Amino acid sequence: MTTDPTTQTLAQLGDTTPEKVTARFAEVRARFDQQAAEHSVKKDADEWKTFVVAWTGRKSGVLTNVGDNWLKPAAKELKPVVGQELNKLKAHVEAALEEKRKEIEAAAEQAAAARDQVDLSLPGVQRAIGTRHLIRQTFDELLRIFLSIGFSVVEGPEIETPYYNFEALNIPEHHPARDNMDTFYIEGARGGHLLRTHTSPMQIRTMEKQAPPVRIVVPGKVYRRDNPDSTHGYMFHQIEGLAVDTDITFCDFKGTVEYFVREFLGPKAKTRLRPSYFPFTEPSAEVDATCHVCGGTGCRVCKFSGWIELFGAGMVNPAVYGFVGYDAAKLSGFAFGMGVDRLAMMKYGITELPLLFQNDVRFLRQFP
Ligand code: PHE
Repeated sequence: MTTDPTTQTLAQLGDTTPEKVTARFAEVRARFDQQAAEHSVKKDADEWKTFVVAWTGRKSGVLTNVGDNWLKPAAKELKPVVGQELNKLKAHVEAALEEKRKEIEAAAEQAAAARDQVDLSLPGVQRAIGTRHLIRQTFDELLRIFLSIGFSVVEGPEIETPYYNFEALNIPEHHPARDNMDTFYIEGARGGHLLRTHTSPMQIRTMEKQAPPVRIVVPGKVYRRDNPDSTHGYMFHQIEGLAVDTDITFCDFKGTVEYFVREFLGPKAKTRLRPSYFPFTEPSAEVDATCHVCGGTGCRVCKFSGWIELFGAGMVNPAVYGFVGYDAAKLSGFAFGMGVDRLAMMKYGITELPLLFQNDVRFLRQFP
C-alpha cells in the first residue's frame, strides 16, 4: 500500500494539469472496478467488509485519502476538477458497493432457504395412538347398557361427609355395617370428611335434589382401607344404580338385572338372586350370573359352583326415603352397586387387580 498514490498529494505525484488529474482518478476507479469484480458472492463476509472499509472507511479509506491528500492541498486552479472527479468517484464506488451488497444478501438468503428446505419425503414422527384404558372401556360398556334402557348418568364428590356416606343410607354411627368399610377419614376437616367408600351417597344427593321419578347410574372412584392383594386395592371403581317411581316392583328390579347380565355377558348368561344384607336396601340381594367360563357346569373360575357373584343390589329401604323427604307410602324402587374393576377382571380373565393400575403398556396393549 505504500505505492498507493492516494497517500500522496497531487503535487508530490506531479499531477499539475486537469488532464493528469482526470487520468489519475480514472486509474483509481479502474483499480476499484478490478477489486470489486474479484469480489464474487462466494467470498466470505469478512473479506467483503475489509474491501468496503479499504474504500469507504472514514479514517484511511481510499475516498478519505483522496479528499485529504488530493483535494484539500490541491492548487487553487485544480480544485474544481479534483472536487468534481472525487464526487464522481464517490458516487461510482457507493453505487457499486450497494449493488454488490444486494447481490451478496440475495445469495445468502438463497443459500439459507436451500439449507432450511423441508424434505417432505422424510418419514414423519410416528406417535402411537393411545387406547381407552380397560377400566374406561368397561365403564363405557356398562353405561351404554343402562343408557339404552332410560337411565341417565350423574357424578358426585369423592370426598364425602359421614352423613351422605353412612347416616342417610340408614347406616347409623355404631352400626356393624360400617365395619366392613374401613374408611379413610380426613383429619381436621370441620364436621368430618372421608373418602367415599361407595357410590351410594349419590343416591341421597340425587333424591335430595330431584323429585321422583329417578333413574340414574353413577360411575366413579371409591376408596377403602383394604389391604392390597390380587383382588383388593385402596381404590376401585363402582357404578351405582337407582330407580325410584310410584310403581316399581321387584319384577322391574329382576328384569332390569337380567337384561343387564345378558347384555354384559351374552344372551346365554343366566341370573340368580341370593339373599344378602345392606342397610339401605330391603330386601337385599347378591346378583350372581352363570359362570362365563364354563357356562354353569362348574370350573375352577367359579370354584365349581357354576355361578359367579356380580354385584350387590336390592329394593330401596323405605327408611332411606325418610332422609330425603320422599313419600315412602307412595314410592318404591331398586338400587345396585357394581364393582367395575371386578367385572372387567371377570370378563377379560384378569387375575391380578394391580395390573389395571400399573400402566404397563405390555398389559394395556392387550385391550386395544
Ligand atoms: N354400596 C354397596 C357396596 O358398595 C353396594 C350396593 C349399592 C348395594 C346399592 C345395594 C344397593 O357394597
